[in-house]
Amino acid sequence: MPSGGELVVSVGVFLPDVLLVNVSAAGRVFSWDEAERNSVRISQVPFPNGTHAYLLQVPFTHPLVTQKYLGEGSWSYSLSVLLSFLLSPDGQIFHVPAVVHSTLQDVVLPQLKGSCTERGVRFQMHYGNLQNKWGVYVGGLKLDKQLVQDGQYELDKTEEFISVEIPLFAPGMDYKDLNLRGLEVSVTVRLVHMETQEEISHLQECVLPVEELLVCLPNGHMVALLDVSGVFPPVDPKRMALLDPSCGPQDTDQSRVLFSFPSGSCGSAVTHTDGHVLYINQVRYPSPDPAHTMLHPHLLYSVPLMCVYPESGPYSVSIYRPRSIVPPAAPFTSLPHPQSTELKWRPLPAGG
Ligand SMILES: *[C@@H]1O[C@H](CO)[C@@H](O)[C@H](O)[C@H]1NC(C)=O
Ligand SMILES: *[C@@H]1O[C@H](CO)[C@@H](O)[C@H](O)[C@H]1NC(C)=O
Repeated sequence: MPSGGELVVSVGVFLPDVLLVNVSAAGRVFSWDEAERNSVRISQVPFPNGTHAYLLQVPFTHPLVTQKYLGEGSWSYSLSVLLSFLLSPDGQIFHVPAVVHSTLQDVVLPQLKGSCTERGVRFQMHYGNLQNKWGVYVGGLKLDKQLVQDGQYELDKTEEFISVEIPLFAPGMDYKDLNLRGLEVSVTVRLVHMETQEEISHLQECVLPVEELLVCLPNGHMVALLDVSGVFPPVDPKRMALLDPSCGPQDTDQSRVLFSFPSGSCGSAVTHTDGHVLYINQVRYPSPDPAHTMLHPHLLYSVPLMCVYPESGPYSVSIYRPRSIVPPAAPFTSLPHPQSTELKWRPLPAGG
């Protein structure tokens, strides 16, 4: 009978000449006193007709109680004991085995919440009452010390919850698209119960502000966001174009310009090397005076763009950040890319 967080075992009814002497469990023999000292409460219950019974009370959390999580919120508790009785006056001993099970729907399942922050995506996980029995996975990667360190995750951990912030470009993050509002990212966090493999997951999507970025999407599109506020003489974002001057920007604001086009279109040069296809294009700003452009076809501004895809697929997202923001560090990738683009862009480390 599960009550008040205990397994209660009642054995009886016995005539007055039967006495409980020992309780054996898990390979140990406890006398009445020893059992009491080990938090197993034993009491004799007398009845008016002179008979009696014994009550054993063992908390669910007691080491003698086997706990097993069955999934879907239920726990099984079981206790297996051997009770030894003395029959007076002849001193005969007899044993009564008692195996009790109790299944309780008393699990508070963990809760997962996600939110977008300035720096990335944050998750809060409340463990519920199945503490530390859950493995945490961020985008398929196990959340361990190494991942926290490699990804510079911000981790806050207590008995009851974990809070983790996954910064932009850290491992575990997926990239969807780029627009003037920022980079569309998503992170999936999964909690997997270590014994039952039960799973709880949450997908959080965020748009994180970025300055300049070049993204090669799995659908073969090249997307570039450029900030032209520092260009002198000033340029008009609306008048910028790709190698094919009929390919204008997809979106602009005062200082920024966004291009999005199939990598092989808009005048891109296509090169096949080492099992990869390279698409190279350029964002250009022609001289505002058409006559001038005809005579001296020099450009006031040009930024190289390129995407590299494996010839045989599958295409994955690759992201390039401008070198000016963070100085390059080697080694990044062994993918081939032309010198001119290397000057402007550096790829995110593989797996990032
Ligand atoms: C009860 O346990 C004690 C040791 O704790 C042991 O010496 C004794 O033989 C046991 N008696 C029975 C009836 O099992
Ligand atoms: C004595 O009382 C108990 C508890 O009320 C009962 O279960 C048992 O059958 C009774 N025994 C006799 C011999 O009357």
